[in-house]
Amino acid sequence: MATPGGAAEAAPAPGVPAPPATTTAADTPAADPDAPVEALTVTLEQFLVMDATARAALPKARLKKMLKTEQGHLKKVAKAAEMAARVEEESRVRAERAAGVVLEVDAGLPAARTIKIRDLDAPAVADSGAVADGDAAAAHPLAGTRVKVSGWVHRIRWEGAKLLFLELRDGTGFLQAVLTGMQCQTTDAINLHRESSVTLWGTLSADARAKGGVELRSDYWELVGRSPAEIEEVLSHDSNPDILLRNRHLVVRGTRASSILRMRSIITQCFREHLFDRGYIELTPPTLVNTMCEGGSTLFHLDYFGEPAYLTQSSQMYLETGIPAVGDCFCLLPSYRAEKSSTRRHLAEFHHLEAECPFITFEELLDRVEDLVVDVVERVIKRGGSLLASVNPDLVAMKRPFKRMTYRDALVYCRDNLIYKDEEAQTHFEFGDDIPEGPERKMTDKIGEPILLHRFPAALKSFYMQKCDDDREVTESVDLLVPGVGEVVGGSMRMWKEEELAAAYKREGMDPKPYYWYTDQRKYGTCPHGGYGLGLERFVCFVLGIHHIRDACLFPRYRGRIEP
Ligand code: 4AD
Repeated sequence: MATPGGAAEAAPAPGVPAPPATTTAADTPAADPDAPVEALTVTLEQFLVMDATARAALPKARLKKMLKTEQGHLKKVAKAAEMAARVEEESRVRAERAAGVVLEVDAGLPAARTIKIRDLDAPAVADSGAVADGDAAAAHPLAGTRVKVSGWVHRIRWEGAKLLFLELRDGTGFLQAVLTGMQCQTTDAINLHRESSVTLWGTLSADARAKGGVELRSDYWELVGRSPAEIEEVLSHDSNPDILLRNRHLVVRGTRASSILRMRSIITQCFREHLFDRGYIELTPPTLVNTMCEGGSTLFHLDYFGEPAYLTQSSQMYLETGIPAVGDCFCLLPSYRAEKSSTRRHLAEFHHLEAECPFITFEELLDRVEDLVVDVVERVIKRGGSLLASVNPDLVAMKRPFKRMTYRDALVYCRDNLIYKDEEAQTHFEFGDDIPEGPERKMTDKIGEPILLHRFPAALKSFYMQKCDDDREVTESVDLLVPGVGEVVGGSMRMWKEEELAAAYKREGMDPKPYYWYTDQRKYGTCPHGGYGLGLERFVCFVLGIHHIRDACLFPRYRGRIEP
């Protein structure tokens, strides 16, 4: 308890910082009688730790004012301490009472059926035909059933000491649960915090106000894994991006982040379904490699048992070896880029959906890219249901055909629409210039629809790209650009004649030796072929309307972040 004259003895109330150690006349600004009047101003903090001599050195009026302020402060401290003591006493009594409360299952209740929250989804209601009267809640087919359900406490709300509302999350959905009476008075109940894992037993009850039209009236529950009170301090709505990224392992439990992860899984499934339906075979090439595919500047180097090696930039070249074996094939694997830039669409590790197709023309390649994207979006809309609606209600099916625009036409478009190579100097792009991310996005957003931008100059593209027969300066290459995100797909026809490939190695200064197996493709039964690579995370951003690519990953990898 604080004593009137001795602030230093006052016990600091919770949340009130302890004052610094007592100071003397010598070390406080107010102690110098020759100091100018402004210097005699003291803060409450300084005053609290001044000894009697220092205080006596203050001008009388100032001392009087400070004593009054001190008195008010000490009163507040005392009140806070009193309140804290009362709360502590109440929780001690509650804890003491709780220690004696032991829950028991009522043996007279029917046996519980173990469920996942998804089992309560609306389609089940619709299937039963029970929605006809418009009262889905009253008609829920599982209403009245006793169930057992396990999950994590997503939200928690007390109403008095004997009514506890939990929102339970089990990874398949969310369910409101109500705990009453003794269930709220156990030691586990009074120490329950968000993110604890629990198992609840109870009866499902139709409730129009509850999400999904049904809630769980718990009759017995068990704590599986506790979560300490500090969970409330780890993250908040205004935590800065760095804290959110450091705690990504907890952030992913949130409603939006977990919904994005679930949607990403659905999107991946739709890609596989599309490709299997079109007759593709899935292959799994290695990602530890000793060749490069997309230029040396973005290679991650590693020591492979004493030999130089890399993390793959693309599985394309291995997929090309798959076509004489299995025909149309694809893979969905990580690719790595030691990207210096960390823009909202670049990762150091991303998931790459790549496909390779023999005996096709460049036109057919463009058709396949368009078919993939349009069909997968349709599948996602069908499968996504309410989960998709909760993440991106604006997603609509895409229209075919996509706009097709050559690189040369893009230069003209930029010139006509004042999209400059150098904004300040107002210089225009010339043939051979790379159109970088910024201007490319400007063009895409202005056009406002997907663009299959094609026939890029050979000098801008990778060594393996087939040159166009009618214009040897450009290649049979394509990027799919979509509004809001930019490039999501890159593809091309591949050089399929051995001598052309040999010339390409030479032009790029590449040692052909490690590529012997790639060259052999051209030696033993070569054929015109092409393929593409789609960045899964960029596509997820596009479909879900996510601004930053980092939010499309479980644990994003980019320059400057390798944990968690
Ligand atoms: O255009 P890219 O570099 O093409 C290739 O790697 C080809 N070998 C693919 C092929 O033909 N099989 O990359 C293809 C796509 C890009 O359009 C983009 O969506 C994604 O991969 N991508 C990235 N995504 C995130 N972060 C990065 N650093 C990416 N680099 C490429």
